Amino acid sequence: MRLVLMGMPGVGKGTQAMRLSESLGVVHLSTGDILREAVKAEMPLGLKAKDTMASGKLVPDELIGDMISERLARQDVGSGFILDGFPRTIEQVAILDRVLEQRGTSLDRVVLLGVSEQEIVRRLSGRRVCESCGAVYHMESKPSSKGEACERCDGALAQRSDDTEEVIRERLRVYREQTLPIADAYRERGLLVNVEGTGAPEEVFARLQAELVAA
Ligand code: AP5
Repeated sequence: MRLVLMGMPGVGKGTQAMRLSESLGVVHLSTGDILREAVKAEMPLGLKAKDTMASGKLVPDELIGDMISERLARQDVGSGFILDGFPRTIEQVAILDRVLEQRGTSLDRVVLLGVSEQEIVRRLSGRRVCESCGAVYHMESKPSSKGEACERCDGALAQRSDDTEEVIRERLRVYREQTLPIADAYRERGLLVNVEGTGAPEEVFARLQAELVAA
């Protein structure tokens, strides 16, 4: 299965991609996670992307294109992948097309997850992330049983620097302007499936699985 999972910031792409990756036995590739790792490790890519990410804008297509081409060339994507947070612009759609064509392969599905903007703000403002292992929590819907520490590794939980009200607004604006148009492009190709993202994570996951089987 070669799948793109798209939707507004905070819609639950990462949460669902992790579950899908386990159930389908394919790699979960999140461009946001790769970039945050690069920022944390102070790699050249991270140094170039850091300020842009903190502002809620998109990192330049060339940087993302190089990063994803390198990642999709690795052996572990052989049996499939779930792309989370990529592509995000029309130019990135063309980049992905080129990379897949070079490998003689193509996408199976593009899933557009949807929830209301009110729910997006609730999800993002309550999100907490482990500073050590990256595990994702939510203060109300998925609190850590260890309070301010990570259940998995005891690392400290913190708010992502782009989860402030002002930056969330900017990320939503950028999404509407630059990312939403790619849904139309994929709809025209007959690849797009809409999935309702409201409800508990397990309900959304069941809906996703049903849609993928039916599609
Ligand atoms: P990225 O990391 O991709 O951020 P995003 O798209 O804004 O998405 P998020 O990670 O914020 O949310 P999500 O949909 O994964 O939701 P989650 O599952 O965590 O990108 C960050 C930045 O990197 C960008 O702004 C840009 O600068 C740069 N970047 C990345 N890719 C790029 C690209 N291709 N091109 C250019 N720049 C790029 O869920 C959110 C919260 O809700 C969690 O707390 C979770 O526990 C909770 N939750 C999830 N599902 C449910 C549910 N069903 N019910 C209740 N709570 C739920």
